[in-house]
Amino acid sequence: MSPAASAPFPDPEEATVSAPTTARSVDLAAFPPGFSWGTATSAYQIEGAVTADGRGPSIWDTFSRVPGAIDNGDHGDTACDHYHRWPEDLALMRRLGTDSYRFSLAWPRILPAGDGPVNAPGLDFYDRLTDALLDAGITPSVTLYHWDLPQALQDRGGWTVRETAEHFAAYAALAADRLGDRVTRWATLNEPLCSAWIGHLEGRMAPGLTDLTAAVRASYHLLLGHGLAVQALRAAVPGAEIGLVTNHSTVTPASERPEDLAAAARADGHTNRWWLDPVYGRGFPADMREVYGVDLPERPGDATTIAAPLDWHGVNYYFPVTVADDPTGPAPHAREIRLPDVPRTGMDWQIDADGLESVLLRLTEDYGARRLYVTENGSAFEDRPGPDGAVHDPERTAYLEDHLAACARAVRKGVPLAGYYAWSLLDNFEWAYGYAKRFGLVHVDYATQRRTLKSSGLRYAELIRAHRDGTA
Ligand code: FCB
Repeated sequence: MSPAASAPFPDPEEATVSAPTTARSVDLAAFPPGFSWGTATSAYQIEGAVTADGRGPSIWDTFSRVPGAIDNGDHGDTACDHYHRWPEDLALMRRLGTDSYRFSLAWPRILPAGDGPVNAPGLDFYDRLTDALLDAGITPSVTLYHWDLPQALQDRGGWTVRETAEHFAAYAALAADRLGDRVTRWATLNEPLCSAWIGHLEGRMAPGLTDLTAAVRASYHLLLGHGLAVQALRAAVPGAEIGLVTNHSTVTPASERPEDLAAAARADGHTNRWWLDPVYGRGFPADMREVYGVDLPERPGDATTIAAPLDWHGVNYYFPVTVADDPTGPAPHAREIRLPDVPRTGMDWQIDADGLESVLLRLTEDYGARRLYVTENGSAFEDRPGPDGAVHDPERTAYLEDHLAACARAVRKGVPLAGYYAWSLLDNFEWAYGYAKRFGLVHVDYATQRRTLKSSGLRYAELIRAHRDGTA
């Protein structure tokens, strides 16, 4: 369907980009025809409208009110006001020329108490968004859980209890029942690592716990919930393409000392293998079970549920890590070393595009993933509109190009990469960092909600067009 012909919104301003004369920096020809070019967001980070139309509170509404939890005391009450401004945001996607959009459903908008009564206006919102995306020729890629657990379920134990995994599957069935006639690309969880380790062990994200037992139990129930949701989606949507989104880093030992090598193996277990091994049918890694020393709440059949075959795997990649032994520190007893003299983003995250290539190759060669998407990749820098109102962000543009080049190299080496989603469409609420960290291809002035396409966004549009036109 032609995007322009049927979109119910005014045509976005013509992009003021010039012909793709510099597209040679990315080997675009490596990407197959039909490659998905997208942007990604998540509900709590952009929607705002936290009490509108019957939405219930989530653990992020609660956590963002804990004094000191979020930089500057920020919260997601208004965020980008996407709940009301989504037509404008869709017009921005059309201006970028993306053909897919990854967004998440807010569980507490649909089921305000996590289970029990359905909130019809919540489902209606995603219904309208889905229709409009399809009308614009943009394929929706729906993530069911991007960290915003209904607070009522947290009050009953959250991810530390098995019931939450069961409620998650029921919510998945409900969402699929409503949207599954139009949405085929589904992801269950986003980055369960962050929910479990950062939310329950490090305490820097909701629900803000620092409890190893809770964290390990949460990790187990998140993956169980994933597997149960896969079953629910398969039953509700024949032909659904179902995936899981996990985040990964390459892990390098700080030295060749045996202690640091062992620490790197543990950090790799914590960051990568704990999440991939069970999903690819290898069970939870024995070395890490020992490191954590926490009994898993396993029941017969769970391992098979968790290892349900997937249609695709989504990789979120931002940075590599270097670690040293830290015997007295918290599990996994590996301390991150801050390397001097390496390029970094405004998050202080090391920039290393080769790491993305390595992660994609590992998923393909070691785990046998048959279809991959980069479901998130991006960078925060301090962007400000210039006197002419334009936002020039050459560092983000370079990050984008370098990481796309890494994707292209991976494809040339046989990685079955089917798409790339830039994080993020918009500057948004960056969790514990609040609004200070800007990841968008589009700048958001939070005082006025004015959106301005950054030069990185214009460059992304140029690359997408070059690939599509075969002029790369
Ligand atoms: C990822 C999250 C996403 C965003 C980026 C910067 O870990 O999935 O919501 O915050 O980091």
